Amino acid sequence: MPQKLIVANWKANMAQAGIPAWWDEFAGASLPQLDAHVVICPPLVSVLPLNQLVAQAHLPFRVTVGVQNLSQFPGGAYTGEVTARMLAGVASHAILGHSERRRWFGETDQQVAAKVREALEQGITPIVAVDRHNWRQQLTQLDDDALGRIVVMYEPPEAISVPTGPVGTGEAAPLEDVEEMSGKIRGVAPAAPVVYGGSVKSHNAGEFLSQPFLAGVVVGSASLNADEFVNIIRQI
Ligand code: PGA
Repeated sequence: MPQKLIVANWKANMAQAGIPAWWDEFAGASLPQLDAHVVICPPLVSVLPLNQLVAQAHLPFRVTVGVQNLSQFPGGAYTGEVTARMLAGVASHAILGHSERRRWFGETDQQVAAKVREALEQGITPIVAVDRHNWRQQLTQLDDDALGRIVVMYEPPEAISVPTGPVGTGEAAPLEDVEEMSGKIRGVAPAAPVVYGGSVKSHNAGEFLSQPFLAGVVVGSASLNADEFVNIIRQI
């Protein structure tokens, strides 16, 4: 089975003060050698401290640090922005176009496409989030070069575990739905690994991680608990 990608999306959670305890539990867990790449995406302020912890640790699988967003602009007078160029070398991946960013921050497909270009130029792998209804439009904004270099994250917003506003049921999408959607996504982006996100927990992670049509999973709220996150990784 090819290496599985497990992405922790901490969203706007976890103060810096909470990271040492989380890390001790995560890095201290006794796990066997696993063919996995774990990408931890903390809030931006914790990207550097987490990189330091990763550099000092010896873990039985690959771990890198990612981000949950980056600027659509290369740099300049854009107050408050953090650019891909600033993140080069410290972020391996960037979750881009998450439904929460599209919903609460009005991110458009064009902005997401610009962010994807910025990330790729700096050697950061975009994890582009798409949903069931708009996936085709969300992907076809990207050029062929980008489609060949991204990871696609399929996440129906209603499957998110902690609801923000009217969305989010806490129920993971049925496997048949995920299989159907990964097939459709592959029709447009044949080279892109597809990962699933939405209420992935230790009790259902094994089901998703064992499917040949999925390259991995994105874990939101369950990744905030290091013990639960380790139990998800164990399901590989
Ligand atoms: P969840 O979030 O695992 O809490 O459902 C996943 C995500 O939205 O990235």
